[in-house]
Amino acid sequence: MSRAPARKTRRYEPSNNGSVLANTAKSVLVTAGVAAIANIGRKMVTQAPTAMARDWCEGLTREHEATLAAIDKLAATSADHPQRRTVQLTALKHMIGKHALQEENVVYPMLRRSPEGGETFGDLHKDHGEVKAMLYELTETDKADPAFDATLRNLRDALEEHMREEEEVLFPALRERLSEAENRKLTRAMNMAGVMVA
Ligand SMILES: [Fe+2]
Repeated sequence: MSRAPARKTRRYEPSNNGSVLANTAKSVLVTAGVAAIANIGRKMVTQAPTAMARDWCEGLTREHEATLAAIDKLAATSADHPQRRTVQLTALKHMIGKHALQEENVVYPMLRRSPEGGETFGDLHKDHGEVKAMLYELTETDKADPAFDATLRNLRDALEEHMREEEEVLFPALRERLSEAENRKLTRAMNMAGVMVA
């Protein structure tokens, strides 16, 4: 009598896929968590010089000084190092972008509330538009081209004039007009706006 071949018993072997997926998800979450923490840390460090100022007005003035210093550093970087110029320009654009957003989203709307604020509001936005256009030109221009240096000089001149008006006239007048509590609230709002894009 022939015996049927013994049937192989299929034993259930738990797939390893579940744990692989779980481990992958875990490492993605850990990586995302570390990245998020690093991102928050970077934002805090970037905003710290402004946040440590006495108030919004002093914070913006410090940023003006830092911006002019960054432009001077870029202007002093030789055209023989175009990549170095590109890196510095990227940092400058980020710095100006964050500063402009703080002003446009928080400070300028407050300036507009004054009786003559409407016209000032329009002029300030126009200045910011010119600055953005010049930053675009700088981005597009060959970093070794003398036109780059000329546009950078124009940018510095335009910014200096714009900053002087803000620092000497507009900002002190707004700070004076607001109560202490309103100034504190404005300082907090401006720093929050800065942290968002820092
Ligand atoms: Fe400004």
